[in-house]
Amino acid sequence: MSRAGRKIDHINYALSTASANGAGFEDVKFVHQSLPDCAIDNISLQTKIGELILSSPFFINAMTGGGGDKTKTLNEGLAIAARETGLMLSVGSQMAALKDSTERETYSITRKVNPEGMIIGNLGSEATLDQAKYAVDMIEANALQIHLNVVQELAMPEGDRSFAGALNRIESIVNGLQVPVIVKETGFGMSKETANKLKAAGVSIIDVGGYGGTNFSKIENHRQDRQLAFFNDWGIPTVPSIVETSSTFPSIIASGGISQSIDVIKSLSLGACAAGIAGTFLRILIEHGPEGLIEEINAMKMEQTMIMTALGAKNIVDLRKLPIILSGPTYHWLHMRGLE
Ligand code: FNR
Repeated sequence: MSRAGRKIDHINYALSTASANGAGFEDVKFVHQSLPDCAIDNISLQTKIGELILSSPFFINAMTGGGGDKTKTLNEGLAIAARETGLMLSVGSQMAALKDSTERETYSITRKVNPEGMIIGNLGSEATLDQAKYAVDMIEANALQIHLNVVQELAMPEGDRSFAGALNRIESIVNGLQVPVIVKETGFGMSKETANKLKAAGVSIIDVGGYGGTNFSKIENHRQDRQLAFFNDWGIPTVPSIVETSSTFPSIIASGGISQSIDVIKSLSLGACAAGIAGTFLRILIEHGPEGLIEEINAMKMEQTMIMTALGAKNIVDLRKLPIILSGPTYHWLHMRGLE
């Protein structure tokens, strides 16, 4: 199958399987406060990812790299929604445009549509510093995501089989690039051991990309006769992954299986500085167009101010001080890892 065909296949199958859960948010409960001493107008949703200042604590995470005209139209829709709501937008892997310059428009459309917005580039850990610079220039990116997707590659018959040298390449990109670098997982989560390695390489922002949402093992296995089914439930769920990594990094992004406002607020209270949403926003865009996505994002902003009002948390810093009750598999995971 061609690269473009594979990307469209990904999107279709990602959408049909995205309802599965297991990110761990059901194991997190807030302690209700009857006297929050707070009004909706007092709430600030503003947050910071490293030096990037965001007006809302959630954003549209990386999707749809390569894939020709259909992908370009989706990226345009995502960029319109990001522009109208002030949300940060990450584009999907730009490697396709590094290999085939006719794909550049697929990504640069986002900057054309949203000239003032916060737009993040995206490449895999096979990228060199020169490729990283080229990707940033292509969309005048405010930061660059480097994604880690070992399990997805292994699950693809045509995927990479060597992951050697990735940390060295990441280190040279962090040292040589003018914009911040965010190292992200793609649905299998990050451990504290991985976080420590990344920190030693100079990385200052990570996106945990946890298990519990879009599942690239299932997506790739779905295309195979002989399936690597053992990878289908592989990975660190998003909630434990936030706790695994938040003591190593002051700036972590929560993502993987986040689809509701309450998951965003739970992520922030566990120590994330922002939450990325991919599959859920793509589904809304495809089913309801950019207008539907704008409506959803605005509704989510309102819901988040309501949740924070009920909790008596006026800003993101207050959210981190709230008591939280953890139960179930998440509590068990953190206990086994000495992190409870
Ligand atoms: C993705 N994701 C992704 N991530 C990345 O870093 N580069 C990429 O090119 C892509 N491509 C991509 C395509 C499609 C169709 C989907 C749905 C997702 C992964 C994404 O950013 C995120 O890490 C995971 O999807 C988990 O988040 P959700 O979908 O559970 O919110």
